[in-house]
Amino acid sequence: MGIDLGTANTRVCVRGQGVVLDEPTVVAVKKGTDEVLLGGAAIGATAKEMLGRTPLSIDVIRPLKDGVIADFDMTEALLTYFIRRVHHRRHWISPRIIVNVPTGVTAVEKRAVFNAAERAGARKVYLVDEPRAAGLGAGLPIHEARATMIVDIGGGTTDIAILSLADVVISSSIRVAGDAMDDAVSQYIRRNYNILVGVNSAEEIKIRLGSASPRAEAEIPSEGVIEVKGRDLLAGVPRAVTITAAEVREALAEPVRKITDLIHETLEKTGPELSGDLLERGMTLCGGGVLLRGLDQLIHEQTGLPVRVADDPMGTVVRGTAVFLDHLDEFKSILESAEDDL
Ligand SMILES: Nc1ncnc2c1ncn2[C@@H]1O[C@H](COP(=O)(O)OP(=O)(O)OP(=O)(O)O)[C@@H](O)[C@H]1O
Ligand SMILES: [Mg+2]
Repeated sequence: MGIDLGTANTRVCVRGQGVVLDEPTVVAVKKGTDEVLLGGAAIGATAKEMLGRTPLSIDVIRPLKDGVIADFDMTEALLTYFIRRVHHRRHWISPRIIVNVPTGVTAVEKRAVFNAAERAGARKVYLVDEPRAAGLGAGLPIHEARATMIVDIGGGTTDIAILSLADVVISSSIRVAGDAMDDAVSQYIRRNYNILVGVNSAEEIKIRLGSASPRAEAEIPSEGVIEVKGRDLLAGVPRAVTITAAEVREALAEPVRKITDLIHETLEKTGPELSGDLLERGMTLCGGGVLLRGLDQLIHEQTGLPVRVADDPMGTVVRGTAVFLDHLDEFKSILESAEDDL
């Protein structure tokens, strides 16, 4: 099986069955313990619903931060639960697992992923970098001796890679993606209205009203405003204010700029032959962050390169891993290099 262990969402695929699970990377536990609530059922969507709404006896944890493991035990609990669920508990066999990791992580961070998957019951663990999986998932010819560029804007990180001959030639990564956009929205509301909004609300505001450019903002349906509810920091009581799409765009400008700057820097590092390929073939965007209105268009305008958004961009990496699992013979070398890495 394959697992795209993302900061925001975890997706699992099984050889021959495609993608079988897609849940938020969130775990609810009894406060101060590692005891998962509801016998494990409080992992994923159920736990995400609880974020910011829990009584004192419950902690809701997002065990990954910025693309890497922040809470090892909770990551292990989450993986154990998902692996068992996929295997229907009854036929408990210890599977071989491919886990996708971003390119920018350290050896120690990779080790943590490896260990967590092993402790969660894997017989053998392979770590495969996300750009290669994303390239396969987007149906790109990553085997060719020509440049393929992938930009994955997820929850925790933006990962950019240029691939050739099925390997990464250049990569760069920053810990700015969907979560940083949510933070930017909360901070904006806090600064301008003295209101504290929860993480799920900030995300909802971003999704409903967010945009990367004035042109994209103009395409937002309805009147382009939303009523935001939160806690007034001065009065200490609940209060609602109205936020406009223009304000949300302003709030998002900084994380968006950091992402487009990184794309620029990566292109500047690219050698002339590969640059020539990119001029023709452009780049493919994936990850949930690319769903921000107008982001693809903005990247196109700023780079002058053709830009394509992968189908169902949040599932690109796991779909690629599913392709990988179905053609393991063909990709043996990738698995071997995954083993050598550790
Ligand atoms: N319509 C939308 N507009 C803007 N952002 C969106 C939209 N839908 C989802 N997102 C954002 O996409 C992000 C999740 O994307 P994704 O599932 O690709 O991340 P991930 O793989 O879990 O994270 P990472 O790869 O960084 O570890 C979240 O921040 C979410 O708010
Ligand atoms: Mg991801």
